[in-house]
Amino acid sequence: MDEVVKARVTGAAPEGASDPEAASRAVREMFTAIAPRYDLLNHLLSANVDKLWWRRTAKAFSTILSRPEAKVLDLCCGTGDMAFALRRQGSGPAITGADFSHTMLTRAAGKTRESQKMRWIEADALRLPFPDENFDLVTSAFGFRNLADYDAGLHEILRVLRPGGECGILEFSEPRGLMGKIYNLYFKGVLPRVGRLISGSSGAYSYLPASVQRFPEPPEFLERMRAAGFRDASWNRYTFGIAGLYRGKR
Ligand SMILES: C[S@@+](CC[C@H](N)C(=O)[O-])C[C@H]1O[C@@H](n2cnc3c(N)ncnc32)[C@H](O)[C@@H]1O
Repeated sequence: MDEVVKARVTGAAPEGASDPEAASRAVREMFTAIAPRYDLLNHLLSANVDKLWWRRTAKAFSTILSRPEAKVLDLCCGTGDMAFALRRQGSGPAITGADFSHTMLTRAAGKTRESQKMRWIEADALRLPFPDENFDLVTSAFGFRNLADYDAGLHEILRVLRPGGECGILEFSEPRGLMGKIYNLYFKGVLPRVGRLISGSSGAYSYLPASVQRFPEPPEFLERMRAAGFRDASWNRYTFGIAGLYRGKR
């Protein structure tokens, strides 16, 4: 079997970070440093498949998004593309994007004409400045993996969701089999080099494959979602399992 057994981890741990506070600081500094080149690299390194994943995720929540009174939070929103996809899928629900990197958030807030119709909040996903039971939908695309404490992140999402509200976490995963081997050559060999060259950051694009490898496998992450209190936890594979959508309900 080519199942990989991973040690149970608390959360992201960029190189050199000795505790969760340091990990969180390092993640924020890293994304702030690559913010000016983030979109270019995202689309280039994923051959624009990222756009498909955001759209597919938004479509998965079309029922909630079709309600104009719905309140939606996109966590770790970065430069806003997941939040924009949610807005385009919906019929005018209130969409808030939250991120703890001021520079990423500024780019989201100035990116499109739609930006002005959305709310952008600088906030740590582990300490959200929102009351309990506030949102009908909370999403996060490629951000959750970077949290310094995954279980605390799940509890915080659950806290701000209304009863019956839904959560969607879009994350990378590690494809298996031949496809996995081919993809790994690219993801661990080519991507860090191109990323370093274009972004000028030596750490960020080596951290990316390392953080995906560290993130729990789908069965373990689903178990953590259930333990946190989510109902109907599920995982849906995207593009050979390069990414996938975790869903759960409060
Ligand atoms: C890989 S980017 C994803 C951005 C966007 N969601 C996308 O799909 O392109 C990860 C984002 O998560 C943010 N982030 C990481 N940890 C965070 C935390 N604890 N609280 C808030 N934002 C966080 C980073 O600042 C960064 O903008």
